[in-house]
Amino acid sequence: MKKIFLMSMVITAGMFGLNPYAFAEHVQSLRGDLSLEENSVAPTLKQYQKDEAPIARDYLQQPPLIPHKIDGYRVTIKHNKCLSCHSWTNYKARGATKISQTHFESRDGAIMSNVAPRRYFCSQCHVPQVKAKELIANDFEPVEAMRH
Ligand code: HEC
Ligand code: HEC
Repeated sequence: MKKIFLMSMVITAGMFGLNPYAFAEHVQSLRGDLSLEENSVAPTLKQYQKDEAPIARDYLQQPPLIPHKIDGYRVTIKHNKCLSCHSWTNYKARGATKISQTHFESRDGAIMSNVAPRRYFCSQCHVPQVKAKELIANDFEPVEAMRH
């Protein structure tokens, strides 16, 4: 028993020893052949799309996608640019959608008088869009009963 185990250990080690790339054959870095030291050119970023009407949601609980640019909109501990348009005090004057009631609920279910900390960093869930080819095809369909 012990002997067989030892033998197979030797054989396995031998396999790796002879061909260390045996399991890494198809793995290639996104950097291609460029070494880390070489200067690489930063890719040009795609332009976020300009302001548009709200984008239809694909499923009920989806955080709505942001239909406008958010360049330069900062969210810091003292100031939240998104709330300057989307808060309940400001939304009417700005013609924006007000944040929903769920955004005032703490993780323990308490309703707070201001945006709950877990909802403060808006772009954690809401993302702007670019018109680009999809990276991975997706044929998701919402369940019939919850289609809206
Ligand atoms: C200058 C005002 C302004 C600022 C700042 C702003 N928005 Fe908006 N936002 C709007 C307006 C206007 C709409 C479109 C409302 C409409 O057409 O019904 C909108 C739409 C949205 C929607 C879509 C809502 C829906 O029901 O589909 C989301 C999500 C959103 N904004 C998130 C954000 C986030 C996150 C930020 C900060 C990074 C932000 N917005 C900053 C004005 C603003
Ligand atoms: C943890 C994820 C999360 C964060 C963080 C978050 N949201 Fe949302 N948001 C959602 C989800 C999910 C919905 C849709 C369901 C709902 O209304 O709760 C939503 C809905 C909305 C809507 C549409 C409301 C409506 O009545 O249709 C607006 C506008 C919005 N969020 C803005 C914001 C802004 C501004 C912030 C930052 C202050 C923010 N959200 C932070 C997840 C999030």
